[in-house]
Amino acid sequence: MIIVYESKTGFTKKYADMLAEKTKLNVYRANEITRISQDEDIIFLGWMKVGKIQGLNKLRKYRVVAVCGSGTAETAEPDSETVIARNKIENKPFFYLRGGCLPLRDLKGMDKIMLSMFVKILKSRKDKDEKTEEAILNIENGFDGVKEENLEPVLNWINAR
Ligand SMILES: Cc1cc2nc3c(=O)[nH]c(=O)nc-3n(C[C@H](O)[C@H](O)[C@H](O)COP(=O)(O)O)c2cc1C
Repeated sequence: MIIVYESKTGFTKKYADMLAEKTKLNVYRANEITRISQDEDIIFLGWMKVGKIQGLNKLRKYRVVAVCGSGTAETAEPDSETVIARNKIENKPFFYLRGGCLPLRDLKGMDKIMLSMFVKILKSRKDKDEKTEEAILNIENGFDGVKEENLEPVLNWINAR
């Protein structure tokens, strides 16, 4: 088995490298996929954009046996069921990993526009709960939610195979 990942700002890469260190599996970026045999089992890690796991489509012809999605929220947002359906991965294990984000001012292009709009929507909510307030601060100021312990379910699954 090998690890393949797609990461834009580095948080998912941190998880991929951490997982490689703990399992001694080789790790590749999704755009290096042509170097990999189609018979190889793959655990894929990708960052999530509006519930879509980025980079996963590049691996449609490969043997992806488990998928991890990294996002900003504490738990999958949208929820795991929606992520699984949106990415058509009903037949394999899905693990959500809390990643992180750069401060909004450091983002560029469409990503910046989309997240700015998202923050505006959150701010316009009348009765903002603690989670919403936290999400606004995290997106505006950036944060790093990458923790070794978040990989535990993934490691347990790998070890049980
Ligand atoms: C345009 C945009 C859309 C996003 N949509 C989601 C989302 O639907 N769910 C989520 O949890 N995180 C979402 N995020 C946050 C990223 O998935 C998160 O910051 C991720 O950890 C970044 O990983 P990377 O550093 O490997 O690129 C979004 C970020 C951007 C810029």
